[in-house]
Amino acid sequence: MGILKIVVLISGRGSNLKAIVSKCAKKNYPAKVIAIISNNSSASGLNLKGNFEKIVINNKLNKKKFEEDLHKNLKRLKPNLICLAGFMKILSPFIIKKWKNKIINVHPSLLPSFKGLNTHQRALNKGVKISGCSIHFVNESLDGGPIIAQAATTVHENISSKELSQKILKIEHKLYPAVVDLFVKKRISIKKNKVLIKNIKNINSFIKNI
Ligand code: GAR
Repeated sequence: MGILKIVVLISGRGSNLKAIVSKCAKKNYPAKVIAIISNNSSASGLNLKGNFEKIVINNKLNKKKFEEDLHKNLKRLKPNLICLAGFMKILSPFIIKKWKNKIINVHPSLLPSFKGLNTHQRALNKGVKISGCSIHFVNESLDGGPIIAQAATTVHENISSKELSQKILKIEHKLYPAVVDLFVKKRISIKKNKVLIKNIKNINSFIKNI
């Protein structure tokens, strides 16, 4: 089995990036983060040390130029998987079509609820009793692509939005590398817009085990 090449796109802190890099750093692991691309030159995630390229694409370029530059880099890097990890720029159909079914994203809610920004506060405003995170394929609809995996946690009455985001972030750090692992093992497919995971009879037992 060849090495699966991963490119991670970030805009900020990069804690999910770190979790993915750590997973791939395991001895003889058949996947490797080959590059980090950021639209923000001061993203602290760019400080992560490792044997990968770091590319900054100027955020102030117009969207078309930004994406042409992004595509040029991706064409050169030829990733098998592109992970959005706190990448806060919406990709247009130009990129999404070119990299169809190769781009995945982590979103800090149980999709399809609370798509978009300010997720945790909106969830708290609705008085949700559970929340969590979702890893999904990126398609043309914002946070609306086929869901690969989700994990949930209880939301206590007095929790602040900051506390909830920290609680869910910890789950993201387990779920995202676990989904990368499913890719590495070629266990993910899409049928009629739904994700199927090979050899997992019960997706919930998979989630409980992480
Ligand atoms: C994560 O909580 C991720 O789910 C969220 O940004 C954070 C990035 O943290 N992403 C989104 O809200 C995307 N809509 P990180 O930079 O430490 O990985």
